[in-house]
Amino acid sequence: MVQKLVFATNNAHKLVEIRGIIPEGFQVVGLIDIGCTDDIPETASTLEGNADLKASYVYKNFGSDCFADDTGLEVDALNGKPGVFSARYAGEDGNAGKNIDKLLSELQGQENRSARFRTVISLIIKGKAVHFEGIVDGTIIHERRGADGFGYDPVFLPDGYDKTFAEMGLSLKNSISHRGRAMRKLIEYLKEMQM
Ligand code: IMP
Repeated sequence: MVQKLVFATNNAHKLVEIRGIIPEGFQVVGLIDIGCTDDIPETASTLEGNADLKASYVYKNFGSDCFADDTGLEVDALNGKPGVFSARYAGEDGNAGKNIDKLLSELQGQENRSARFRTVISLIIKGKAVHFEGIVDGTIIHERRGADGFGYDPVFLPDGYDKTFAEMGLSLKNSISHRGRAMRKLIEYLKEMQM
């Protein structure tokens, strides 16, 4: 029997990514597929809290086993900011370009430019909640490099690489990224459940 899991997202790219690695026996569907068009609140002050809010919203309102993710860029010299506010760092009507402008301006004159992307996944399955975390460490460079990717990719140089996330192909990015790492931990857990 195939076990259906709802991924509490409207992001088509994330659905494609996870469907490419999900083990046989599981089917992943998005919010749209269960007819959920609600604006699910993301009002928590931590990544864990937001991932929990999204997963438990689906579990309570739709009764489905589900998981949700939340990601933030944590910059050491900014005491972990923008963190949970990464998407709206430059304000509610901001965008990726404005977010990067703000980040570079806040870091002006800073020698310590170390940062990390952190993803938390909250899974609720058979009434049990489990968390998975994926981290990639790196540095915020001084100017944008590369045209691929999204968000802060053009200014994030992962440790051990000489290309930013926006300069490396998607498959290399996925193999080392925060989200890729968290997703693979989720997959391992699901595989173990099947044994
Ligand atoms: P979300 O929780 O996946 O929606 O991510 C929140 C915000 O973090 C996004 O709007 C981006 O600003 C940033 N972000 C998340 N993942 C990435 C990434 O892989 N590269 C660059 N920025 C990212």
